[in-house]
Amino acid sequence: MTVSWNHTDKNAPIGVFDSGVGGLTVAREIMRQIPNEKIIYFGDTARVPYGSKSRETVTRFSKQIVRFLSTFEVKTIVVACNTASAYALDELEAESDIPMIGVVKPGAKAASEVTRNGRIGVIATEATIGSKIYNQYITELNKDVTIYGKACPLFVPLVEEGLWVDPVTDEIAKRYLAELIDLDIDTLILGCTHYPLISSTMGRIMGENVTLVNPAYETARELKEMLGEKGLLNDSAPALGENQYQFYVSDTADKFKNFANSIIKYGILSAKTIPIEEY
Ligand code: DGL
Repeated sequence: MTVSWNHTDKNAPIGVFDSGVGGLTVAREIMRQIPNEKIIYFGDTARVPYGSKSRETVTRFSKQIVRFLSTFEVKTIVVACNTASAYALDELEAESDIPMIGVVKPGAKAASEVTRNGRIGVIATEATIGSKIYNQYITELNKDVTIYGKACPLFVPLVEEGLWVDPVTDEIAKRYLAELIDLDIDTLILGCTHYPLISSTMGRIMGENVTLVNPAYETARELKEMLGEKGLLNDSAPALGENQYQFYVSDTADKFKNFANSIIKYGILSAKTIPIEEY
């Protein structure tokens, strides 16, 4: 089934989705960089994590979410999950004419531009590292680089437990990052939605000679550029009382709302649970 309509309404919302709360780091950057835009956010809290699932499963879930977001006639969709961007973006784009942007390409592009010694580290979920998608995009842009991937599965639960600045997180990070330090990387891509929330820990451990690349920031920047090129940037602020940001989840809306309120300072008024399997 192809999802289609005419995507020329500047006032239409932007659809943003992730496997759960992590994509809020991307939504937050969009809110900061293009504050006039309306956002419909979906977090797949019933089926998180995606990072340990197969390509087929993540693609099936992502297709359901695109169908759900399509009901809002969004003008574009941001695949705010690294794992879904790695596994599903190509198939999603093939099935729909809604302009889409994932988080991997913008992060890869930034890293290929900032590295000086051509040694780039990527930390992400097992799925994203296994897909070698960052390697593929970076070497397309710059052949003279070597990319070192490291799956860091414990960071997601640590972030979700709120242990952003904590000796336990420090210890785990030291173990994960030791080999990247030994490999003398000068650029580190935070290739998972949750990692920007512990970027101060990463920065301290990697040292000041390593540049951290935050795909969430880079994605919001590219989104702004893409909407600008298409003449689709919303040039007026939402009307007073209009629900600018709407949040939907597949389970545990209250838990989502509490986490969201800790990272987004715009006041998440509500998050609604929807039956995503029906889409
Ligand atoms: N959002 C996922 C990502 O960026 C991390 C959490 C998960 O495994 O679902 O890859």
